[in-house]
Amino acid sequence: MKADVKPKPVIAGQGVDAGEVLLAVQNVSLSFGGVRAIRNVSFDIRKGEIRAIIGPNGAGKTSMLNVINGFYHPQEGVITYKGRQRSAMRPHIAASQGIARTFQNVALFKGMSTLDNIMTGRTLKMRRGLLAHALHFGPAKREEIRHRAAVEHIIDFLEIAHIRKAPVGKLPYGLQKRVELGRALAMEPELLLLDEPMAGMNLEEKQDMSRFILTVRDAFNTTIALIEHDMGVVMDLSDRVVVLDYGQKIADGTPAEVQGNQAVIDAYLGVAH
Ligand SMILES: Nc1ncnc2c1ncn2[C@@H]1O[C@H](COP(=O)(O)OP(=O)(O)O)[C@@H](O)[C@H]1O
Ligand SMILES: [Mg+2]
Repeated sequence: MKADVKPKPVIAGQGVDAGEVLLAVQNVSLSFGGVRAIRNVSFDIRKGEIRAIIGPNGAGKTSMLNVINGFYHPQEGVITYKGRQRSAMRPHIAASQGIARTFQNVALFKGMSTLDNIMTGRTLKMRRGLLAHALHFGPAKREEIRHRAAVEHIIDFLEIAHIRKAPVGKLPYGLQKRVELGRALAMEPELLLLDEPMAGMNLEEKQDMSRFILTVRDAFNTTIALIEHDMGVVMDLSDRVVVLDYGQKIADGTPAEVQGNQAVIDAYLGVAH
């Protein structure tokens, strides 16, 4: 695969230093009642990079992804995506503008097959009306054939052809995570948000998922924001890392920089603030 042969930059992050900013988060704050989940956080994501978001449990990582994809509306701050500012955006609008995501707890239709779950990711791409779809007339039929071909391509890429007809609820967790990635890829995103895509996986499953994530970036030039707890994975995959703790940004830099940062070490050791 392409990802295996492409040499990694000598210095992590070097390859994206001059990259164009795809998404910028500026002074964003988000509260739930008295809980200040995100406190005045700013960072950016450059086109084509793998941007890790790390931090202890409850740091605000998932909330941040929910702000980026429009699920939560921050009380303060601005999000700039592809040069356009917004403070609030509905998730389906974000999706139609190329932001796709997977969830910390797999969110698939458990009774539906792998194939049908991934097909739901194409829904946004289907332009023809529902009636035409139901009747399989002319252009709608051709469009459906095109969507099926795209889905088959993703199934081959993720090496899940053997489970294409299986109900996803019956699959091992690691494979469910892979199907969920497939559904997000079916949207052909420009920005892919992955919330702990390797949680609960064994070493081999993690290696597979790492390979898929790298290949998605390298082969499709998809920009990726990745929440991940496994520091080995973060070191291997990411170009830059933003570190959150108690809703605040405490570090931002290359994997090597944040790993050696005292505030980060303290946060992970649970040192009192
Ligand atoms: N929908 C919600 N309602 C109330 N509190 C929430 C909600 N979502 C998250 N929180 C709180 O916000 C904080 C950050 O949570 P979260 O973003 O899930 O952290 P992480 O993903 O880093 O573990 C936590 O204190 C959590 O309890
Ligand atoms: Mg989370």
